Amino acid sequence: MILVTGGAGFIGANFVLDWLAQVGEPVVNLDRLTYAGNLGNLAAVKDDRRHQFVRGDIGDRGLVANLLETHRPRAIINFAAETHVDRSIHGPAAFIETNVVGTFALLDVARTHFAALPPIERAQFRFLHVSTDEVFGSLGPDEAGFSETTAYAPNSPYSASKAAADHLVRAYHHTYDLPVLTTNCSNNYGPRQFPEKLIPLMFHNAVAGKPLPVYGDGGNVRDWLFVGDHCAAIRVVLERGRVGETYNVGGSAERTNLEVVETLCRILGEQKPGRDYRKQITFVKDRPGHDRRYAIDATKIGRELGWAPRETFDSGLAATVRWYLENSAWLAAVTSGEYHKWVSLNYAAGAVA
Ligand SMILES: NC(=O)c1ccc[n+]([C@@H]2O[C@H](COP(=O)([O-])OP(=O)(O)OC[C@H]3O[C@@H](n4cnc5c(N)ncnc54)[C@H](O)[C@@H]3O)[C@@H](O)[C@H]2O)c1
Repeated sequence: MILVTGGAGFIGANFVLDWLAQVGEPVVNLDRLTYAGNLGNLAAVKDDRRHQFVRGDIGDRGLVANLLETHRPRAIINFAAETHVDRSIHGPAAFIETNVVGTFALLDVARTHFAALPPIERAQFRFLHVSTDEVFGSLGPDEAGFSETTAYAPNSPYSASKAAADHLVRAYHHTYDLPVLTTNCSNNYGPRQFPEKLIPLMFHNAVAGKPLPVYGDGGNVRDWLFVGDHCAAIRVVLERGRVGETYNVGGSAERTNLEVVETLCRILGEQKPGRDYRKQITFVKDRPGHDRRYAIDATKIGRELGWAPRETFDSGLAATVRWYLENSAWLAAVTSGEYHKWVSLNYAAGAVA
């Protein structure tokens, strides 16, 4: 079996669902259920005996040690994190606590557990750390995409905390021989993403008839990857990745934020006609320190492990819009309470009504 952390969040939940459908091996899912964790994401496996949910913190050493001893997972896949850049600007402490101190505790407990394993289990054991392309900083318009050898240059408290965690993961391999793997992925989109992130936020506002607040001039560029393709990449890295290596994962789909929002409006217009959603686009004051461009060179994972994304940006976005339209109850549940507080804090002076 495997131990997944953060498996009630966006990517973690998609990973657990895909894993159970495609691999079928049991999963213990450790998640603290912060505002971003949602058991509704896992409703489809509520009664599945192969999935065991445990509410708890990756920084709780006693709990993690107990889970490792009880379940003896062949791998830990660490998704648990604070993940929203804007939140990291308003409140960086939680990012340091979970992404740095929490990952450190998880590594440390894993190291002790790993050292005591019999040789066969030790040979199989992996610690896969899920990270982001944001650790590499910002690119100029004509610079080549980030590769695995690009120097780290994080610019936000979020990316700095992820970079610190990545360095700890690396150090635990070099110092203690912990068999680690790290993936650095570009922006994900897809079903079950909390509507503070660009695509679900814009979807939510578009159907509600609210303004679509685009930061600055809308020219910030990101590479976009459908979440199912990211989950597939993590599975191949886990099975065939070389221990101690990092793998960059991307969709070869660079888009400006404005292009993303315009494409979303077009696809939404096709699936839910009756309004020109583009008319709702408004431009709001940029976020401080907003990185201009991220791009990923995913040659290594393609060459070594044969991974490539299956979805194009258009096909993945069409599937995503369909999912949100068909799951309005999910959206309604996550857009109450805490979410509203967050929106009013972050966009107090902006265009979100
Ligand atoms: N979303 C993206 O575009 C993207 C891109 C590249 C990498 N990543 C990385 O992938 C991982 C998952 O991202 P996501 O978008 O699914 O995030 P998310 O914010 O949707 O989910 C994070 C999950 O972690 C849980 N969590 C937070 N703190 C915890 C703690 N201390 N202990 C246990 N659980 C805790 C939350 O409850 C939540 O379920 C993160 O590590 C993130 O840095 C995300």
